[in-house]
Amino acid sequence: MIVRKAKLSDVEQIHEIVNYYAEKGMMLSRARSMLYEHIRDFVVAEEDGEILGTGALHVLWIDLAELRTLAVKENLLSKGIGSKIVDFILEEAKELGIPKVFTLTYQPGFFEKHGFNVIQKESMPHKVWTDCINCPKFPNCNEVCLEKIIDL
Ligand SMILES: CC(C)(COP(=O)(O)OP(=O)(O)OC[C@H]1O[C@@H](n2cnc3c(N)ncnc32)[C@H](O)[C@@H]1OP(=O)(O)O)[C@@H](O)C(=O)NCCC(=O)NCCS
Repeated sequence: MIVRKAKLSDVEQIHEIVNYYAEKGMMLSRARSMLYEHIRDFVVAEEDGEILGTGALHVLWIDLAELRTLAVKENLLSKGIGSKIVDFILEEAKELGIPKVFTLTYQPGFFEKHGFNVIQKESMPHKVWTDCINCPKFPNCNEVCLEKIIDL
């Protein structure tokens, strides 16, 4: 298995993985148009042409990026794939000189294992809420906000 930046030809498989969990209410759904437009944000774990999992780093501001759309195929959970994707994304944040990465998630325990700390959602800048206002759960959502300070 390798973890690498995504290509346009990965979009169909990314779409399938993400929207599988979105239909269960576990994460935000992503339209193909969004995936194409933001393809440079995306990372994939791949083996023999099969996309096993994905995640994205979305830069928001001078000192802030969001780790989002992290998902691993259900039959391949707990094999370390999600961790490898997170490590790749955090390394990319470091290379880009981004001092802080945050995430909004229903899986805080997973991110705490990767050095993220829970913070108050309200402490984040308004720009962070762009996705949220389009979500059917807004404003009554119990996603947890976590951040990680990157050692640049
Ligand atoms: C969250 C997710 C990406 C983790 O991927 P994964 O490949 O199963 O994770 P890993 O195998 O790398 O797990 C690494 C560690 O985190 C732990 N872990 C995984 N999910 C966890 C959770 N929700 N809470 C606490 N620990 C968790 C694993 O037990 C493992 O621990 P260990 O190293 O001590 O054995 C995966 O569960 C997933 O795709 N979930 C559905 C989509 C989703 O909820 N995404 C969240 C971001 S929006």
